[in-house]
Amino acid sequence: METLEILRWLHILAMVYWLGGEWGVFQTSYKVVNPALSYDERMRHMDTAYRIDIMARTGIISLLPLGLHMGYIWGVQPLGGGWLIGMWIVYAAWFALTWAAFFNRGKPISDTLYRIEDWTRYLLIPTLIIVGLTSLLGMGPLAGGDGEKWYAAKVLTFGLALIIGVILRLVMHEWQTQFRVLADGPNPAIEARLAKSIAVGRGVAYFYWILIAGTGFLGAVKPF
Ligand code: HEM
Repeated sequence: METLEILRWLHILAMVYWLGGEWGVFQTSYKVVNPALSYDERMRHMDTAYRIDIMARTGIISLLPLGLHMGYIWGVQPLGGGWLIGMWIVYAAWFALTWAAFFNRGKPISDTLYRIEDWTRYLLIPTLIIVGLTSLLGMGPLAGGDGEKWYAAKVLTFGLALIIGVILRLVMHEWQTQFRVLADGPNPAIEARLAKSIAVGRGVAYFYWILIAGTGFLGAVKPF
């Protein structure tokens, strides 16, 4: 039981950083895209956004292995033993990639690292959505019995939340390229693109919070 309790505690911490971190990035983004502020000030706000965002990203990638490990203890996820060890090794590599991209932000190598990170999402999102759906339909691989479906539902909503995460990641990637151009002086075309992409980002952010909070609800209440 002790392992489960510690994993649950870490799982809650990861959620706090994700949900709270997104709010921080959301607020800071207003300053980043504000053309009334000086270039230097906007760059400072952008740096703050990245420093907050790394904690949200760490939360995102930590929730999954913690959740899969707890799922095995709960008996709703079949892969234990060596699979769990393998999963934590993959997680360590994923963690290193996420932080390497952060530490190298603004350098040319960061584009490659961010692109690899994006690919982890492109592979994970369909996998999570398919596994969640087939399990909810009783076809496995996760438990689909009465009182067990909350787990598969969490995997599904987590997969859906990651889609929004990718959209927000693409918005932040664009900042990098657009601010390289803005460094040369005011540019109305770039300002217009920034305003457009941030409007998309803000629009989807509301669904993001609902999905993250909803996934937390499924874990805390286990309603079905
Ligand atoms: C948006 C992402 C997620 C959020 C915000 C979230 C949040 C939470 C919260 C708040 C709890 C309740 C803890 C408690 O009762 O004290 C919980 C429990 C749980 N979550 Fe998640 N979770 C997320 C993703 C996942 C994923 C992807 C999985 C599985 C792969 C997972 C598996 C679990 C399990 C097994 C529990 C039950 C822990 C227990 O009651 O012992 N979670 N989650």
